Amino acid sequence: MKVLVLGGGGREHAIIRALHNDPAVTEIHNAPGNAGIAQDAIVHAVDANNPEATVVLAREIAADLIVIGPEAPLVAGVSDALREAGFAVFGPSQAAAELEGSKAFAKKVMEEAGVPTARALVATTEEEAAAALDEFGAPYVVKDDGLAAGKGVVVTEDRQAALAHAASCFAAGGSVVIEEYLDGPEVSLFVISDGKNVLPLSPAQDFKRIFNNDEGPNTGGMGAYTPLPWLPENFVTEVVEAVARPTVARMAERGTPFVGVLFCGLAVTSKGVRVIEFNVRFGDPETQAVLARLRTPLGSLLLAASRGEISEDMQLDWDPRTAVDVVMAAENYPDTPRKGDAISGLEAAAAIEGVHVIHAGTSVSGEEIITSGGRVLAVVALGENLEAARNAAYAGVDAIEWNGVQYRTDIALKAVENRISVPTP
Ligand code: AMP
Ligand code: GLY
Repeated sequence: MKVLVLGGGGREHAIIRALHNDPAVTEIHNAPGNAGIAQDAIVHAVDANNPEATVVLAREIAADLIVIGPEAPLVAGVSDALREAGFAVFGPSQAAAELEGSKAFAKKVMEEAGVPTARALVATTEEEAAAALDEFGAPYVVKDDGLAAGKGVVVTEDRQAALAHAASCFAAGGSVVIEEYLDGPEVSLFVISDGKNVLPLSPAQDFKRIFNNDEGPNTGGMGAYTPLPWLPENFVTEVVEAVARPTVARMAERGTPFVGVLFCGLAVTSKGVRVIEFNVRFGDPETQAVLARLRTPLGSLLLAASRGEISEDMQLDWDPRTAVDVVMAAENYPDTPRKGDAISGLEAAAAIEGVHVIHAGTSVSGEEIITSGGRVLAVVALGENLEAARNAAYAGVDAIEWNGVQYRTDIALKAVENRISVPTP
């Protein structure tokens, strides 16, 4: 099977790496690539967000399966164009991608499907925003109602800051969703959907803030680990029954079936599981950890989903070890990152037992691999337990260097120290 993976970030590199373990996959193509992907796939300089260009590329390759990584091509209708051209596509239609593209739409579907989530109000003016903030009280949660790659959300005790974020969204022509604050730890659960049947992957936890102790601005994600030793035993089954299945069923009833990964961003609160958000794709950097443990052939699984052939009796096969990944980012990320710095130590890191390096914002310049984005790479490690995996990942991080590199030193630390608990009512 020839697979085309669209998107050139860490998530896509992790998908490509997993595809290599599927004996049914004979050729892997990618657009637009990065320096690490170029070592593992045939890279094409094609704009992954352009429906026409991706159809031309898929025809050229004669792709048997197209896997769409990021949200931008999904929201741009790339999956629709490819499906209309007759290709098997893993990734939702433009209409179904609204579950991520519009937070207001996601709230509506959750309401229709009876899915538990934070109470929310939509505001389009500063007066409405102020009224909504006062209705829920502090801490305040204000979300830009559009695609913002996880960076459009402000959670703050400061009413002025909350109002200012709303005002900046209005100034840009948008609206905001203001929500009740959810207490409790966050979980990312990826659920593969073929439009009707669903299959959950292993739950992961992401670290959204740029600095240790969850301080500083939100990022796309600074690290992850899986599985989560502190979760209640029936957690995944509960989320499938209460969240994934009703959402997928409701999307089908609406005439916009959801084929792809339903990424359930969850809070495990004192009142039970609540959806924080849906994404319509694999999470980055959770995927780097989750797919490092998956032994079930990924290409065949995603092809089955694209054809409506997922069986819920299927047992996924997981590596019993724990996976941790630590993102190494460029100076000034998540603001405009510094680019063009030479990266050293990649081979030394990958030589450590259980460690591999997934590339995100990297490119090749002459003999060197240089930084070319905010999140530059993720060091992934498998270990016999969480502590061993974490130590190995940081040993890899210690081996890698460039000017201005930044990373969190506390990824998975609370879990290692048993400091995460699910709040009780
Ligand atoms: P989102 O883009 O909706 O995932 O939000 C980004 C981050 O903001 C989440 O991962 C949470 O850490 C935080 N967040 C979003 N909504 C809430 C909420 N209702 N209560 C508490 N934290 C939230
Ligand atoms: N890591 C969260 C996301 O991919 O949105």
